[in-house]
Amino acid sequence: MKKTIVLASDHAGYPLKEALKAQLTTAGFPVVDAGTDSTVSCDYPVYAEAGCRKLLDGEGDLCILCCGTGIGMSMAANKIRGIRAACCSDTYSARYTRLHNDANVLCLGARVVGEGLAWEIAETFLTTEFEGGKHARRVGLIMDLEARQQD
Ligand code: RB5
Repeated sequence: MKKTIVLASDHAGYPLKEALKAQLTTAGFPVVDAGTDSTVSCDYPVYAEAGCRKLLDGEGDLCILCCGTGIGMSMAANKIRGIRAACCSDTYSARYTRLHNDANVLCLGARVVGEGLAWEIAETFLTTEFEGGKHARRVGLIMDLEARQQD
């Protein structure tokens, strides 16, 4: 059974989100789309939260967020408890953020990577499993940092 993927974007990431949706569907990954629905200007933190909430609510197994650079989405997503978001522009980073960081959100910059590279990055991220072991301890320490933050 393939993982279910939550997708979300702002206006800048919308064309890439749509391209990824088509590629994911063709590759057999069920997709949950948290918006946006057009290239009309909107605020990326709104859609970072929309995608991450669906992920945390169990509607998907992993999430991909697209904006212009991928950076705003990753900054916003990493403010949400339980999210470990990685902004990647290469397949090596995508592979190792799953192996070592157990990242659950991939952020892509539609103005940084083309659709072909974005798909290879996404496919690498979605098909690589967390290695565990000493990396589980380190990810646990990240989550401890989060737990110590004041509300
Ligand atoms: C929108 O112009 C742009 O700022 C946004 O998509 C993103 O790149 C922010 O980090």
